[in-house]
Amino acid sequence: MIGIIGAMQVEVEQLLAQMKETNKRTVSGVCYHQGLMAGVPCVVAQCGIGKVAAAVCAQTMLLLYKPQVVLCEGVAGGIGKDIRIGDVVIAAALVQHDMDTSAVGDPVGFISGLNQIQMKTSEPVSNVLVDCANKVYHGGVHRGVIATGDQFIADKERLCTLAKQFNAVACEMEGGAIAQVCCMAKVPFGVLRSISDNADDDAKIAYETFAASAAHKNTALLAAALPIL
Ligand code: ADE
Repeated sequence: MIGIIGAMQVEVEQLLAQMKETNKRTVSGVCYHQGLMAGVPCVVAQCGIGKVAAAVCAQTMLLLYKPQVVLCEGVAGGIGKDIRIGDVVIAAALVQHDMDTSAVGDPVGFISGLNQIQMKTSEPVSNVLVDCANKVYHGGVHRGVIATGDQFIADKERLCTLAKQFNAVACEMEGGAIAQVCCMAKVPFGVLRSISDNADDDAKIAYETFAASAAHKNTALLAAALPIL
């Protein structure tokens, strides 16, 4: 069983349309759709926006469905001039950019309990995602650190800080929470994001224009990757 989590309707609607659903169950307002995607047993959920919603969904999915891999997919803001709208970013690691206990001496992003800043994705899972992305998209595929926080980033200074502090190439609002849940439970995970905006002062308009087409890009990649994960 493979677990797939997207935050918004636009990020899961094509997956659900392609899925041969056999069962569904709602817990705390989140619907878990079980069935076959590309012939592979999967559970797909729309978690809602932000770290708490994502963590609740990931933990519930682990308890109810015991997936051997969890994938987080959707859109993200690109960081840096090499990352363009429509590109795909596969996470090598996740950070929570708004986790900050620096006032008591920790580095910004330090996650107590895990005692680390970066949460590394499963290398075999990410390798499959990168290989499939290169085959499906012919370019515009990146692998790097994705920064998660409860903020829509639309500010040049803030995104420069994320690049400098964490070496981040994309920002979003759920991946780092799903990563923490999976690290705690020792379940392999991967994160794939299509770029909807550049997280800069024009991010709102870009996001409104490109979020749907970027989100839908992930469907073909997932269909190719699922049978070989
Ligand atoms: N998801 C898509 N674009 C984003 C941005 N600029 N900041 C946070 N999450 C996003």
